Amino acid sequence: MGRRIYNFNPGPAALPLPVLQKIQEEMLDFKGTGMSILEISHRSKAFEEVLDDAIARIKRLLKLDNRYHVLFVQGGASLQFIMVPMNLAVPGRKVAYVDTGTWSSNAIKEARILGREVAVIASSQDREYCYIPRGIYVPSDTAYLHVTSNNTIRGTQFHAFPQTGTVPLVSDMSSDIFSRVFDPEPFGLFYAGAQKNAGPAGVTIVVVREDMLERVPKDLSTMLKYTTYVEKKSMFNTPPCFAIYVVQLVARWLEETIGGIARMESINRRKADLLYDYLDGQDFYRGTADRDSRSLMNVTFLLPNAELEQRFLKELQTSDLGGLKGHRSVGGFRASLYNALPVEAVEVLVGFMREFVRRNG
Ligand SMILES: Cc1ncc(COP(=O)(O)O)c(C=O)c1O
Repeated sequence: MGRRIYNFNPGPAALPLPVLQKIQEEMLDFKGTGMSILEISHRSKAFEEVLDDAIARIKRLLKLDNRYHVLFVQGGASLQFIMVPMNLAVPGRKVAYVDTGTWSSNAIKEARILGREVAVIASSQDREYCYIPRGIYVPSDTAYLHVTSNNTIRGTQFHAFPQTGTVPLVSDMSSDIFSRVFDPEPFGLFYAGAQKNAGPAGVTIVVVREDMLERVPKDLSTMLKYTTYVEKKSMFNTPPCFAIYVVQLVARWLEETIGGIARMESINRRKADLLYDYLDGQDFYRGTADRDSRSLMNVTFLLPNAELEQRFLKELQTSDLGGLKGHRSVGGFRASLYNALPVEAVEVLVGFMREFVRRNG
């Protein structure tokens, strides 16, 4: 095995090593077909088994009952920003959004492009999105409420979802799906680009509840209707076979090696605690998110000045730690602690940060 670093990338991000090894092992001859998964037909029995197993595992992991459909869609989470209002808006009713940063702002923008009447019912823009708004009230005649469960760029996360009564909740879970236990019941739909916590880029997992499908306008284009994906089991056209296969392997790793989402969550909490406890106990680095809104997945922090940040970045480049530069829109640093990142990586990072302070603090 060549050199592997501690990969803190925000997405595409680290994949579990056993998953990468399995891909390598099966690459030239997938399950006795004499072909790789990249070369077989999506209509073949071998691929259908992959698809069925991926769906079954996702349902078990997320404890989804039979009302929920698991779909695989291309176009990234960004396509869902438009598919959600196209499919789930209801004539004469507003769609509601909580604005907690770039990705929710993008979702709001897309709903507006479609001409939907959008109510932004809460926002944390006033303090550069460093917190999750509380006390969110949703009028009962709203078509749905959209939230971004984890804000990858700002390092904030909903620790409890808004109470929406009978209004279906919709969430972009791109950067925290499979990272913690949550109750699917209030959700009409949630989605996640796979490339952070669930697999490679190229596929988006969409989970939609049966009753939401009644809203899908009949005159929508085939590829933009959730009903097409439900009726054709995500195979109306050629699906992203390789990406779905990797999602299946990640789901298997979560179930069989980790032991499920509750176990994964406790590992994720250990990682986040390690880093936040360190940040809280010193005054060189400064975490950018409010304590009660901090993300378990993306930990954002700054150094005292630009010169020290440059030096920190330079030293990182010759270390075994990668992917820590903050998003280009906000600067600073960000440690993404997705499922596949081992606890040891966070210990090494904290050691590196301590040593940097010793020499530069
Ligand atoms: C929370 C969230 N939503 C949406 C996106 C955009 O995803 P995609 O590139 O799959 O469109 C990202 C990308 O980083 C994200 O973090």
